[in-house]
Amino acid sequence: TITPVILCGGSGTRLWPVSRKSFPKQFAQLVDDTSLFQATAERLSGSARFAKPIVVTNSDFRFVVTEQLSEVGIDPGAILIEPEGRNTAPAVLAAALYLHARDPEAAMLVAPSDHRMPDGAAFRAAVEKGMGALEKGKMVLFGIQPDRPETGYGYLELDTNGGDTVPLKRFVEKPDIATAEKMIEQGNFLWNAGIFLFRVKDILKAIETCAGQLVGPVSAAVEEAEVDLGFLRLAPGPWAGAEDISIDYAVMEKADNLEVVPFESGWSDLGGWDAMWRDLEKDGDGVVCNAGATAIDCSSSILRSEHEAMELVGIGLKDIVAVATRDAVLVAHKDRSQDVKLAVSALKDKG
Ligand code: GDD
Ligand code: MG
Repeated sequence: TITPVILCGGSGTRLWPVSRKSFPKQFAQLVDDTSLFQATAERLSGSARFAKPIVVTNSDFRFVVTEQLSEVGIDPGAILIEPEGRNTAPAVLAAALYLHARDPEAAMLVAPSDHRMPDGAAFRAAVEKGMGALEKGKMVLFGIQPDRPETGYGYLELDTNGGDTVPLKRFVEKPDIATAEKMIEQGNFLWNAGIFLFRVKDILKAIETCAGQLVGPVSAAVEEAEVDLGFLRLAPGPWAGAEDISIDYAVMEKADNLEVVPFESGWSDLGGWDAMWRDLEKDGDGVVCNAGATAIDCSSSILRSEHEAMELVGIGLKDIVAVATRDAVLVAHKDRSQDVKLAVSALKDKG
């Protein structure tokens, strides 16, 4: 079996005001009435292949996690609580050490909790394709066909030949725009989906080699962890000594045993309102409107009211994001979607 490890620590500030510090986007009902986190857990529980998932999150979200899992009838294998977010490398390492103590041969599948992948069966089939490579001590990434020079993703340069998996030549995390454009032009690059499949012993070996500085602090944090109401609280003292770094920079850019499964079904990282607009169903004028919103003569815009007592009406809008919640309204040019995080810091400064 494979143990899913769901990473659930991000704050998703670019989807403010729906995504909040205390209730980030992965838990919100962005697309339908299942949250992205719930959809992730369901995607990884639809076959006998998968063991109960391990969720790595922080203290603020622990009850949202248990509540949302129980809503979809999924039992977590463990919930690891980080004293503070140190990015994905420490989170993956903590989960790997936790599993290693139980079964060093175990396979784990690291999954972000904020992606949309409508075809769960296609994804499970892709995971199946990756399994063979694990026998050879390889670590498996999933590649998405890119359609624009996005700078927020990792890029996978593929070797020419392969079977179920294709050897990875080079991993480039978050390139600048010129580099991204060059890679798109070159053509033999896929986006990194941010999902990883490996044996516990292999990721531990890779972290020791590529990011050995993490091992001391994170091992101590796991060894000294406290069980609290069924949550495993990593020890804050040692955890504070772990470097804040993503698994992509810490390991994937450096490891030499990576293989890729190209994934051809739908995948999107709903990172901001422009991505939401791109991904959701639009009317003939390119407008995404939810039940609480009305668009009159609008085009290429997204209008959402998240509060039942709040009607949102747009007239003559073009390329606009308008989102109303109970206590905040965002109105922005769609091209400025990435800057919504500025709103969050501006409000923080106001106190
Ligand atoms: N537990 C925990 N702790 N989870 C975290 C933390 C943390 O400190 N930081 C981030 N996460 C979770 C996020 O909630 C998300 O589900 C996942 O880990 C990935 O983190 P992001 O911060 O969203 O990464 P990214 O989008 O910038 O980049 C990654 O994903 C891209 C695809 O969406 C990379 O893997 C890229 O290479 C990739 O293309
Ligand atoms: Mg992301």
